[in-house]
Amino acid sequence: LDKIIYRIIEERRKTELDHGDLISMLLLAQDDDGSRMSDEQVRDEAMTLFLAGHDTTTNALAWAWYLLARNRAAEAKLHDELDAVLSGRLPTIGDLPRLKYTEMVFSEVLRLFPPAWRISRRAVTDYEAGGHLIPAGSLVLLSQFVTHRDARFFTEPESFNPERWTAEAREARPQFAYFPFGGGARRCIGEGFARTAGTMLLATMARKWRMRFVGDEQNVEMQPLLTLRPKHGMKMMLVRRSPVS
Ligand code: HEM
Repeated sequence: LDKIIYRIIEERRKTELDHGDLISMLLLAQDDDGSRMSDEQVRDEAMTLFLAGHDTTTNALAWAWYLLARNRAAEAKLHDELDAVLSGRLPTIGDLPRLKYTEMVFSEVLRLFPPAWRISRRAVTDYEAGGHLIPAGSLVLLSQFVTHRDARFFTEPESFNPERWTAEAREARPQFAYFPFGGGARRCIGEGFARTAGTMLLATMARKWRMRFVGDEQNVEMQPLLTLRPKHGMKMMLVRRSPVS
């Protein structure tokens, strides 16, 4: 990764042209005093964005195919929306506002299998929360996985139900009952990108294919590492769902 990123930085430095992409933004960004980032700083930023953005989105999609294969009614509804909006063609960004159910599917996937399944903060001073004293220096863990499956906020929390994500249902819930992208000052900077990518990828693939388990679906186990991933991978078969090209 270093070799590739440093080569791109070197090539870009030679021309100073704005290519309209992330590396250009990083290279051309200036502080008030006119100073710019060093090669190492640009490399660090690019690497963080790549690593924070890749594993999270790919795991979300793996869980999406898992949940769709297990919930045929939701899968059928997704297909109906894709057929109605796309009539077999590839989706474009312009289709996003009409891919509402697809987006709801993605939101529900992030509820049940949040790729970032916990975040942590260190208390810099003594702090009281809900009647508990958190002494300075303590590490506080907040788990999306646990909160997202709390029956106070989601009825039948273990069940996959994209209908939870209508505008009315969202508004009826406390804001932090659902926080797949964190919150506050360090909220995920890639949220908009991830939602767009997730919805577009689901639409692109589900337009033509359904996924079915090869072998026993019960064999799918969660592995909570830095991201929440399927422990043994997920062996699935692509089944073409319509003859539309
Ligand atoms: C489904 C996909 C994603 C999920 C679930 C996710 C989740 C999160 C969460 C929970 C945080 C906050 C961590 C904390 O508060 O300790 C975070 C931060 C971050 N995310 Fe994402 N993320 C996703 C996609 C992306 C993408 C696509 C990018 C970049 C293109 C990205 C870049 C970042 C960066 C740079 C931070 C650190 C922000 C900061 O500390 O100021 N993420 N993400």
